Amino acid sequence: MANSASGLQSLPALQRVLVVGSGGREHALGWALSRCPGIEKVWVSPGNGGVPDPASAGDAGYCRLTIAESDHAALLDHCRSASVDLVVVGPEAPLAAGLADHLRDAGVAVFGPSADGAQLEASKAWAKQLMQDASIPTAGHWSISSAEEGLAVLEQIQRPLVVKADGLAAGKGVTVATSVEESANAIREAFGGRFGSAGERVVLEECLQGPEVSVFALCDGERMVILPPAQDHKRLLDGDQGPNTGGMGAYAPAPLLDGEGLETVRQLVLKPTLKALRERGINYRGVIYAGLMLTQDGPQVIEYNCRFGDPECQTLMPLMGPELAQVLQACALGRLDLAPSLTIEADCSVCVVAAAAGYPEAPRKGDAIQVDLQPGANHQLFHAGTCRDDQGRLLSSGGRVLTMTAQGTDFDQAFASAYQALEQVRFDGMHYRRDIGHQVRQP
Ligand code: AMP
Ligand code: GLY
Repeated sequence: MANSASGLQSLPALQRVLVVGSGGREHALGWALSRCPGIEKVWVSPGNGGVPDPASAGDAGYCRLTIAESDHAALLDHCRSASVDLVVVGPEAPLAAGLADHLRDAGVAVFGPSADGAQLEASKAWAKQLMQDASIPTAGHWSISSAEEGLAVLEQIQRPLVVKADGLAAGKGVTVATSVEESANAIREAFGGRFGSAGERVVLEECLQGPEVSVFALCDGERMVILPPAQDHKRLLDGDQGPNTGGMGAYAPAPLLDGEGLETVRQLVLKPTLKALRERGINYRGVIYAGLMLTQDGPQVIEYNCRFGDPECQTLMPLMGPELAQVLQACALGRLDLAPSLTIEADCSVCVVAAAAGYPEAPRKGDAIQVDLQPGANHQLFHAGTCRDDQGRLLSSGGRVLTMTAQGTDFDQAFASAYQALEQVRFDGMHYRRDIGHQVRQP
């Protein structure tokens, strides 16, 4: 199907969608896609405790499938036996492992880049080289392959440098050092095996300053649709204190980038990135996530990811118009020109992540979760690290357990709804930041 898309006059029928992944991001994608007109069925595999089991899905429109994201053959079997029209791959690991290639080679339409495109995220050295070649604004860097080489760079530069493991390190591979000594220790640790094979190569970067913002471009290989910018909160604790996490909350649209700012990002970053990918023979059909730092010299790319951000995705999905499924399908087929324009709700959307005791170092699992929340039009509870036991009781099973999302006509209203709704959810050790969105809330 994907291979014959160039001669299409209109998008093919789209009724059955498979979302691959188990996080809050995939719960939100399944929920949003199931709301699109014409969609009959959405499977989320392997999903989590918030995605209804097939037997109890009722009119939820989406349900779980228990195939692991690493089981490419079984996922393809399901696509064939269930006549899946579109696969949306959520996380980076299966993309880097070639899941999209495997499915696409068999004729399935896939939203998610091939393994070569996923290098944007899976190799920081590769991504830095691409940015350098395409003159995309980013911090100066050194790509090194031994501790001695790294220490020699530090010796010469005499400034603290950011130390990044080259490969996928589950968000833990970056040290923003504040002293030369700290940089040196991080270099020794990385080459000492702290990140396994992800740390066999290391990128050293100049340290940049400024607020961070996440921008997502839905790409069809040539064209793109840019979503409203979102701001994540990476630190565990209020006041942006404590260790780095996968993200503790987000809001969109982030006023840090207005229409003009977003256009600058399109011209300086996103278009050149897609062009540079094409020049490398990569037909990139999926999300380019540009993690930007807005410095005094303009936006600079801190990192690329080859997927939606989590929890930014949960924040953004409730704003997506009914065209979402068709837009993702059009990207998958390389034919965004055939897609309807994606409408975006004018609301403010926010989310707050509830984490388990011990997150991020050693999250405790197995705590019973009590949810007394009445379903409401203006909030959504997206699960991440949850599962059900034999009796169907909901238990925590990971570090970031749940995301409460809410919308409002302004950020104060949206955050008030999210925090009120979160009070109706309880589990032992549950903790969350109280100051998500402090940048846009009235004191
Ligand atoms: P990454 O995994 O590349 O997103 O890095 C994690 C976090 O480290 C980012 O969200 C930034 O807060 C910080 N960071 C990464 N690179 C730099 C840099 N060059 N300068 C300052 N902070 C950085
Ligand atoms: N929220 C940041 C990420 O998904 O990498």
